[in-house]
Amino acid sequence: MKTTLITGASGGIGEAIAKRLAEKKENLTLVARNETKLKLLSQELSQKYNVNVDFIAADLFDPQAPEAIYQECRHRELEVSSLINNAGMGSGGEFAGADLKNLENMLQLNNGALVSLTHLFMQDMLKQKAGTIVNMGSLISFAPVPYMALYGASKAFVRFLSQALYEECKPYGVHVMFFAPGLTSTNFMEAAALKNETGDALIAGAPTQTADQVAEEFINAYYERKRAAVSGRMNRFAVKLLTLVPNSVIAASSARTFKKRTNQKG
Ligand SMILES: NC(=O)c1ccc[n+]([C@@H]2O[C@H](COP(=O)([O-])OP(=O)(O)OC[C@H]3O[C@@H](n4cnc5c(N)ncnc54)[C@H](OP(=O)(O)O)[C@@H]3O)[C@@H](O)[C@H]2O)c1
Repeated sequence: MKTTLITGASGGIGEAIAKRLAEKKENLTLVARNETKLKLLSQELSQKYNVNVDFIAADLFDPQAPEAIYQECRHRELEVSSLINNAGMGSGGEFAGADLKNLENMLQLNNGALVSLTHLFMQDMLKQKAGTIVNMGSLISFAPVPYMALYGASKAFVRFLSQALYEECKPYGVHVMFFAPGLTSTNFMEAAALKNETGDALIAGAPTQTADQVAEEFINAYYERKRAAVSGRMNRFAVKLLTLVPNSVIAASSARTFKKRTNQKG
């Protein structure tokens, strides 16, 4: 049975996308750690929209998880015709002061798991000469941002990888899309421990969307088979501005703003 696999589907943007895709009659396979939430959401969506919704509880901090998910899909005879690599987390504050294990986990989730899942499921899509892979980026992928340095770099990795794979996969009929939300009100800030002075300094004044607004823009870009899309009019405008200014200037200015807001010297 054909299915769309969504990572990070137990909440936030992933859950909102799952709801929109179920409404469009797509069969789904939902992945995240919280089995209870996945079970409830699967039941809700399959009953409401009369689609097949599977779920696989997995911790993507574990480098073995992508292979286990791939094998589980084969075992259940689920053909992943669309893969949405949405699961991700952030981190903020001084890089040197962050817990190294947290940073490593973030890289494994935002990049390692995304690379492994993409590599595994892409093989079958290339053979079928059909399929879609979407990688969730962020507005932050468009410029270096001090005090969110590694999170930003992890999303720049996703952007470059997606844009390159788009070209590699195009001759096989497999579509790769990069999708970048801006600030979105989800559990993201709490998960990244950014609900504090540091978080406020990093994001103050940024336009915020709801997960549902982001999902609506996602669905439009997804069905239009865009190669890349940014969610939110203000965010698209910001990206245009960012391309006009050298990265070094943006980085220096972001660092100054952050220090001013947190009353740091330097
Ligand atoms: N919110 C924003 O402001 C914002 C802005 C730009 C980009 N984004 C990107 O959008 C994507 C979704 O973010 P969100 O705002 O929806 O965040 P969220 O509300 O924190 O949701 C994150 C999702 O990822 C799952 N997840 C987290 N750690 C996991 C792990 N170790 N293994 C498996 N699943 C895991 C969570 O489920 P479990 O806890 O059940 O595992 C949850 O379903 C991320 O890639 C994020 O970087 C978000």
